[in-house]
Amino acid sequence: MKLQLALDDIPLSAVLALVEHVRAYIDIIEVGTPFLYAEGLAAVRELRRRFPEKEILADMKIMDAGEYETRQALAAGADYVTVLGVTDILTVKGCLAVAAEFGKTIVVDMICEPDLAARIKQLEAVGVRALAVHTGVDQQAAGRTPLDDLRVMKSASRSSQIFVAGGINAATLPDYTRLGADVVIVGSDICHAENPVAAARTMHGFLYR
Ligand code: 5RP
Ligand code: MG
Repeated sequence: MKLQLALDDIPLSAVLALVEHVRAYIDIIEVGTPFLYAEGLAAVRELRRRFPEKEILADMKIMDAGEYETRQALAAGADYVTVLGVTDILTVKGCLAVAAEFGKTIVVDMICEPDLAARIKQLEAVGVRALAVHTGVDQQAAGRTPLDDLRVMKSASRSSQIFVAGGINAATLPDYTRLGADVVIVGSDICHAENPVAAARTMHGFLYR
């Protein structure tokens, strides 16, 4: 099981300092969607340069131009790129084709997918091997969590690595590990903790106990 740190709403200089401090406790550095809007793929390049031993996920949430956008993110140094599961299957196929060229991984983010089980079957049939259960920030504000969707995904998926995101914290982490998530994504609960290093260390300690 891996811990992915989602960096969403802090500037590049603060991100670099934070990642340096939590380096030993995280497996995957996520260049989050709002961070990509703010800093662009230069942030991926800089993190790749400074943290060569870490895996990097670019949370591009691709909705169109799958080949082109995947190529940009992978060329910048990402190991994983996200595409939205609700998009056209042609876009997903484009992302997969470029990822295969680079030997990297496409993670399909299933946010707002109305029929998870049916869509997972279609996605795995075209070669998807990594799926993300995701309760978005706005959905979290309405009281939702990714737990039920994770249960559905675990029973529907035959061949994928499962990522999970959406307001996960140290107290709820065991719920997600118990259900068999492969990668647990945590953003706010580390980035905005009173002590981000202690928060990351606690979660890492639980995952690698
Ligand atoms: C929002 C995202 C976030 O990166 C993801 O939800 C993780 O952050 P948090 O733990 O704060 O929910 O992709 O769209
Ligand atoms: Mg994200």
